[in-house]
Amino acid sequence: MKVIVIGKSGQLANELLAELPEGVEVLSLGRNDVYITSYSDLSARVHQFKPNVIINASAYTAVDKAESDSDAAYAINETAVEIMAKVAKEHNCRFLHVSTDFVFDGESNLAYDVFSQTNPTSVYGASKLAGELAIKNTYPENSAIVRTSWVYSTFGNNFVKTMLRLIKEKEQLGVVADQIGCPTSAKGLARFIWLLASKGDIKQVYHWSDAGVASWYDFAVAIQELGLKHGLLDKKIPISAIASSAYPTPAKRPKFSLLNSTDSALISDSIHWREQLETCIIKLSSENKGIK
Ligand SMILES: NC(=O)c1ccc[n+]([C@@H]2O[C@H](COP(=O)([O-])OP(=O)(O)OC[C@H]3O[C@@H](n4cnc5c(N)ncnc54)[C@H](OP(=O)(O)O)[C@@H]3O)[C@@H](O)[C@H]2O)c1
Repeated sequence: MKVIVIGKSGQLANELLAELPEGVEVLSLGRNDVYITSYSDLSARVHQFKPNVIINASAYTAVDKAESDSDAAYAINETAVEIMAKVAKEHNCRFLHVSTDFVFDGESNLAYDVFSQTNPTSVYGASKLAGELAIKNTYPENSAIVRTSWVYSTFGNNFVKTMLRLIKEKEQLGVVADQIGCPTSAKGLARFIWLLASKGDIKQVYHWSDAGVASWYDFAVAIQELGLKHGLLDKKIPISAIASSAYPTPAKRPKFSLLNSTDSALISDSIHWREQLETCIIKLSSENKGIK
């Protein structure tokens, strides 16, 4: 199987390469390799490599910046996605795309399933939903959209690394406790996507997160505990639970964005977020000690 991964330097793209299944030949493309908003450029790359599958791991992911930079967010999260779907259709490849829990408004208190009503509260969420619609309109027959939440990895920048840095720098921290969802290891997400790449029939939409439920506060407390346990931190600081209203951000985030991933867990093992977090912290710790 030949696969093009778009978004070379991101968390997910790096984990896709780290989890590369045997027998897969991959071409990973970054912003210096292809203009994802150019149909002719992308089509030429695809024509040259002749993949069976295109995986889009690129996105405009700066949630707060998107509020004042919506043209750029829509260019990457909608226009480029529509172009990828058209190119995949033209070259008869499967197209796998990743979306977000932020397509929901968070007013539910039940985990969102793939048929739940979308209603994004931010430009980022709206632009990602527009990308989903573009795929459904362009190439529904051989595309899948994987919605996920709270992604972190040893690669790139994310909440885990930010918390580890802040705990080292500060005497105390306040972290929001009234936004509920589920952390997701990009490594587990990558494994799930590789299974979709080679699966016979695929559905249009999947939800994938690690198992369990957490607030950002719970997540931060676990990061501190595991960071201390595995030698990434040498001091413990008080972490207090605060309300979102005490930490205003340009983008409004859903208060509750748990994804019901039950169907996806039949395809790939679902592991509790705390266990996945420990795996990531152990890896960060070994990299810190120079053990790769
Ligand atoms: N991170 C989360 O918490 C989260 C939560 C839910 C869903 N998701 C979704 O999961 C997917 C993967 O996210 P991630 O966390 O791996 O994202 P990430 O680490 O922010 O990586 C995004 C990638 O997109 C690329 N990109 C951005 N603008 C581009 C442009 N104009 N041209 C070409 N490439 C461009 C970036 O390239 P550069 O590095 O060169 O900028 C980067 O490689 C995305 O679809 C995201 O929406 C993420």
